[in-house]
Amino acid sequence: MALRLGDEAPDFVQESTVGTIDFHKWKENSWAVLFSHPADFTPVCTTELGTVAKLKPEFDKRNIKAIGLSVDPLDSHRAWVSDIEETQNTKLNFPIVADGDRKVSMLYDMIHPEANATLTVRSVFIIDPNNKVRLMLTYPASAGRNFQELLRVIDSLQLTDRYKVATPADWKQGDDVVIVPAVSDADAKQMFPKGFKAIKPYLRITPQPDK
Ligand code: BEZ
Repeated sequence: MALRLGDEAPDFVQESTVGTIDFHKWKENSWAVLFSHPADFTPVCTTELGTVAKLKPEFDKRNIKAIGLSVDPLDSHRAWVSDIEETQNTKLNFPIVADGDRKVSMLYDMIHPEANATLTVRSVFIIDPNNKVRLMLTYPASAGRNFQELLRVIDSLQLTDRYKVATPADWKQGDDVVIVPAVSDADAKQMFPKGFKAIKPYLRITPQPDK
C-alpha cells in the first residue's frame, strides 16, 4: 500500500556514497529529507544536489539530515560527485543512496511507471525525529525542486509541533500564524499572551509565538 502522511517511514539498509546506510539508525533523532532523482550525470539533478550541499548550515540549524537516492550504481554516483563538486563549487556533504536493486524505490513508491518504467521520479519525503512521514512531494523530471520551500515547510512543522497554531499561505519565519480551531478563545488568551485578532471565529491571527 502507498505511503501516507503519518505512516512510519520504511526502514532500509542500502549502499551509499558514505558507506552502508541503516536508515533509522543513521537518522537517529533528526529530521530527514529523503529525495530521489531520476539519474546521475543529468543537468537538473546536478544543480539540485549542489543546492542541497550549500544549504547544509540551514539543514543543521533545524536538525535535518539530507539523503539523496537514485537507481544508478555506486561507482556512477562517485564519479558524478566529482562533477557536482566541480560545477557547483561545493563539497557534497550528504549521502546518495545507490538503489540498484530498487529496494528503497519500491518501499517509497518512487518509480511511477507511466512517467518512466525504471527510473525514480523526483520524490521528496520529510521524515520527523519519530520516523513519521510528514510531507511527500512528487515533481516531474523536468522541474528542479525548490529546497527553500522544503525548509519553509520544516519550519512550519517544527513550530506547529510546539504550539497550537497553523501557518497560513506563503507563511515564512516571523510572520503571523493562525490559532487552530480546536482552541477556545478563553484558552487562546492564556496560550498566546501577545494576543490575537479574530477576523472570523475560525480565523484568529496571532504573532509567531516563539519570536
Ligand atoms: C535532469 O536532471 O536534468 C533530468 C533528468 C531526467 C530527465 C530530464 C532532466
